[in-house]
Amino acid sequence: MTKPVVFIPNRISESALALLGERCEVDYRDIEEKLDDESFFAALQQADGLMVYSRHKITPAVLDKAPRLRIVSNIAVGYDNLDLPALTARGILATNTPDVLTETTADLTFALLMAAARRIPEADRFVKDGQWNEWRPSLMLGKDVHGATIGIVGMGRIGEAVARRAKGFDMKILYHNRSRKSDAEQSLGAEYVTLDELLSRSDYVVLMTPFTPDTEGLMGARELGLMKKDAILVNTSRGRVVDEQALIQALTERQIGGAALDVFQTEPIPKDNPLLSLPHVVTSPHIGSATRETREKMAMKAARNMLAGLFGERPENLLNPSLLP
Ligand code: DGY
Repeated sequence: MTKPVVFIPNRISESALALLGERCEVDYRDIEEKLDDESFFAALQQADGLMVYSRHKITPAVLDKAPRLRIVSNIAVGYDNLDLPALTARGILATNTPDVLTETTADLTFALLMAAARRIPEADRFVKDGQWNEWRPSLMLGKDVHGATIGIVGMGRIGEAVARRAKGFDMKILYHNRSRKSDAEQSLGAEYVTLDELLSRSDYVVLMTPFTPDTEGLMGARELGLMKKDAILVNTSRGRVVDEQALIQALTERQIGGAALDVFQTEPIPKDNPLLSLPHVVTSPHIGSATRETREKMAMKAARNMLAGLFGERPENLLNPSLLP
């Protein structure tokens, strides 16, 4: 029997590659950068399975160039890069990698929150630039994290993991979510509130929602205007959950205290984006799940999903279940 062809246009872990290689012919590109379009589409012509990071947008136009494709295994929990209705309409399975990156992404979220609160990147630059000539009582004054109020918008797996960290810092936890989470209310003392109430009461507003048509631009000028003057906005979900122009204005006019952002409207962020020149903004390059351990687990999960989909089993993380009722 001929083996199915799996196309992987970027580097993944060796163990995931070996697992796929046992049962598939793997067209693998051991590269970090994005493959050029010509090579990508040439390989896609032959692929039964495609395994990609979320940098690859899988649109109907891409699918038109993939006549044999049976499954797209996304190496990410977010799947806004996949046109799910188009995949489903063509009978192509789609999968993602939830759970394995929950704690890692919560770690980064909390690290950004603390970095913004205590002005760590600014302080680091200050010392290394040789500006620390004298200790002063008001030098790099920040904002307390312990005992403060955190408002988590989107209490899914990662939101709850952030809440657990906040509990360790004796924070008051508010949350807003489509449905109430009685477990989180009981075990973490989290209080369910409307979005407006969360925004007006929180010292730290943490966005943990997936990107969907409902959450696009969720944080606009009105919402930012409800935040406290010294509150910090943390976003490790997707850039377009925030109206970036409104955020730039709110930060420039000091309507809010600061922001810590791992995700942006356009990625990589354009070098002339005003966010990059505001001292009270901390940034990172979309690295929520970027640890060695978690990348490995994500690749293994994506590989298992791929094998299940290609060999007639139900992938654990199937995003279009209507295809395998
Ligand atoms: C995810 O897994 O969704 C991360 O944001 C990487 O895209």
